[in-house]
Amino acid sequence: MKGNQDPNAAETGGLAPRRLAWRVLEAVAAGAYADNALERELAKSNLAPLDRGLATELAYGAIRQRLLLDAWIDAHGRLKANRQPPRLRWLLHVGLYQLLFSSRVPASAAVNTSVELAKEAGFARLAPVVNGLLRAVARARGPQESQGAAAVPGILPHADAAPALTGWQGLALPEAEADSLALRHSLPPWLATQLLQWCRPEEAEAFGRSSNTPPALDLRINRRRTSRAEVLAAFGAAGLTARALDDQAWGLCLSEASGDLRGLPGFAEGHWCVQDRTAQAIAPLLAPQPGQRVLDACAAPGGKSTHLAELMDDRGEIWAVDRSESRLKKVVANAERLGMASIQGLAADATELLELRPQWRGSFDRILVDAPCSGLGTLARHADARWRIQPDTIAQLAELQQRLLERLATLLRPDGRLVYATCTVHPQENREVVAGFLANHPSWRLVQDQQWWPAPQAGDGFYAAVLEPGTDTTAGGKGSGPA
Ligand SMILES: C[S@@+](CC[C@H](N)C(=O)[O-])C[C@H]1O[C@@H](n2cnc3c(N)ncnc32)[C@H](O)[C@@H]1O
Repeated sequence: MKGNQDPNAAETGGLAPRRLAWRVLEAVAAGAYADNALERELAKSNLAPLDRGLATELAYGAIRQRLLLDAWIDAHGRLKANRQPPRLRWLLHVGLYQLLFSSRVPASAAVNTSVELAKEAGFARLAPVVNGLLRAVARARGPQESQGAAAVPGILPHADAAPALTGWQGLALPEAEADSLALRHSLPPWLATQLLQWCRPEEAEAFGRSSNTPPALDLRINRRRTSRAEVLAAFGAAGLTARALDDQAWGLCLSEASGDLRGLPGFAEGHWCVQDRTAQAIAPLLAPQPGQRVLDACAAPGGKSTHLAELMDDRGEIWAVDRSESRLKKVVANAERLGMASIQGLAADATELLELRPQWRGSFDRILVDAPCSGLGTLARHADARWRIQPDTIAQLAELQQRLLERLATLLRPDGRLVYATCTVHPQENREVVAGFLANHPSWRLVQDQQWWPAPQAGDGFYAAVLEPGTDTTAGGKGSGPA
């Protein structure tokens, strides 16, 4: 491959990025987080930017599409996917993903590279199985070259582009609506079933599509250091394409960014940070004022703490609390880079703050509870998340979210404002948590709440509720108080 700096890749016609993606799939199957596994493998490799992009797309894409890729193995393999030797199953996924989702990798390249990898890994005996299965799937899909595929091995459409092909075409779909939804969008069946209970079929379809569309890279401009126009100009001068976000005055979207963002113009100077466009809508809901005392109770890595500081012109007292000491270090590093002196970090369990700091009772003007959640609004961003979450995870999270809200509400001033937010679309973690809280605290008022659904043009899925106390900031309220 032209311009490739990896000698192995050059020798073997694009094997290196596919091999790397295969390793990531194996690591994730063994329990690793997809982003950690990919980062580790990329750090060990010497891939050129184009091949890094391919490896990333193949790894994340194949992990997202696991259920659908398994269905193809079930339909054309002699053994069902879950009976295949695991390494072979993941190699087949890398090959299948290219066949089904890339209009630019010719079928022959997807098949041949997979066969080569099988041989190289000592599976020579299984190479004919790989060859036979992938060719059977390619036949079931019809001729790809005739669908306008460019014959450029290793080049996939840019992340912003919708997949040219629908990965399930050629596969018999199950009759049950939820099973069909699960298969077509590679969603866990329990989630597909629940989605159809919460929303209309077309909304569930849109959720499925957006959960498989690689997200855009959004940035928030640090208004205390620069302007959006200056950052756009600096990116333009560096040959990068960025555009201002319509609905976020300080947001912009960066296209074609890959590799280490720390090398981009303005990073070291603290001119911007990475933050999804919907996430940029959360801190302003608190309407924080300079000089106020603010608590960000689940703060790491600090996207919203630093946003609060920007909105307050870095004047006031912002306590950034997080249970994870290591994650809290990221808050401190981000605050330093962006130049926000009003932020103080505290590693603590936010449900215990009242015991740890009794003097904090009723003392905050603003409290943000950006609660730990299932992240169902960010499935596209976290390729493996959908396979980790189970229905009972949701119930456990909802219990923690309820406890956080109950306990943290006691720290708010009677004339203060609290925002409860998550990046999930599950009603049990959102409206039901808030409804439970309001039932316990009848004097509190729901000023507004909103569910943002994830969409490629609209960012991550989020929920936020703006709450004000009236006169009641007592702990526990009626009925189910904190544990
Ligand atoms: C959704 S993330 C917060 C994102 C952050 N607000 C931002 O905008 O960058 C949730 C955070 O809650 C933290 N967390 C989980 N349980 C907690 C608890 N009991 N007390 C404090 N923090 C907790 C996690 O470590 C995680 O960093």
